Amino acid sequence: DNPALIDSFGRVATDLRVSVTDRCNLRCTYCMPAEGLDWMPKEDVLADDELVRLVDIAVRLLGVTDIRLTGGEPLLRPHLEDIVAGMAALLPRPRIAMTTNGVGFAKRARAFAEAGLDRVNISLDTVDAETFAHLTRRDRLGHVLDALAAAKDAGLEPVKINAVLMRGVNDHQAADLLRFAVEGGYHLRFIEQMPLDAQHGWSRADMITADEILHLLSTEFSLTPSPAERGGAPAERWLVDGGPHEVGIIPSVTRPFCATCERTRLTADGAVRSCLFSTTETDLRSLLREGADDEQIAKAWRHAMWGKLAGHEINEAGFAQPIRPMSAIGG
Ligand code: GTP
Ligand code: 5AD
Ligand code: SF4
Repeated sequence: DNPALIDSFGRVATDLRVSVTDRCNLRCTYCMPAEGLDWMPKEDVLADDELVRLVDIAVRLLGVTDIRLTGGEPLLRPHLEDIVAGMAALLPRPRIAMTTNGVGFAKRARAFAEAGLDRVNISLDTVDAETFAHLTRRDRLGHVLDALAAAKDAGLEPVKINAVLMRGVNDHQAADLLRFAVEGGYHLRFIEQMPLDAQHGWSRADMITADEILHLLSTEFSLTPSPAERGGAPAERWLVDGGPHEVGIIPSVTRPFCATCERTRLTADGAVRSCLFSTTETDLRSLLREGADDEQIAKAWRHAMWGKLAGHEINEAGFAQPIRPMSAIGG
């Protein structure tokens, strides 16, 4: 049996993104409606031991080396530090990262570092308090700024910032955000908005493209391509004013990087998705609860990945959004 999660196009998934909850405490307008969503029933969500068991199978039998905890908002999962510690105790020990909105993170940063968290990416779309409150529908900018500083103090570096720009909302503040990141020593990445919002409100015309972002930044900064190796990373990197500071752009829509994708995904309710945009899923939770052994679960996971599509079809006629929104898949 092949120990790797290989697909029919020859890509090998070594990076597992684990969504630990579909809930969130912000309401970013590009993600979900003000009233929130119908959250997953508790009994559908994997228990801590189920979660750690699946990750163990991934690292021990399937060649996964990197774990990223996502949500919804992962910090809303009770005792997440203990889950991290459980994953850090696995052999071979995976690298463990988290993508979070940062709310409530500052006071837990040190505990996470001690539990074994290696790195953190924090979402921040604007450094203007009013714009932040409008965009996320919650007045929490201070929390996120504290989270960034605490992540750095706890040694969870490099600390990355993820930013999505929305036309007429925060696109005029792109350079402010980059200035903030350069001064704070954070690595900022701008992300093209993808059609994964719960409201199905995405439109190509409203999306701020990678080229537009470069143009917006070039009024204040000189950007030159970074010599760093990109590998399977989603971000194109640019040196800011000659370096060493860099800014990244994740051009998911206009310059897809699906051909070098190294990701597999596990949803909070225990489904494997081979792609953000998969239209099919493989339910590992049922297998697990029916008493399947590790090898049976590994086999189902391999099978799920073999069927991974060549890439997303956002730019093709007839594209349809997956049923799950981003918050229920894991970013
Ligand atoms: P690093 O290891 O720090 O580079 O992590 P990352 O960039 O892979 O993870 P993060 O969770 O910070 O993701 C940043 C953004 O990349 C997400 O918000 C998505 O917009 C995009 N992204 C992540 N995974 C995928 C993917 O499989 N496909 C596409 N098209 N975009 C993705
Ligand atoms: N397109 C691109 N990025 C998105 N995010 C949330 N929704 C979208 C979308 N539709 C980002 C968040 C966060 C990360 C988890 O994904 O801003 O940084
Ligand atoms: Fe929450 Fe992230 Fe969605 Fe914002 S983008 S509402 S932080 S899940």
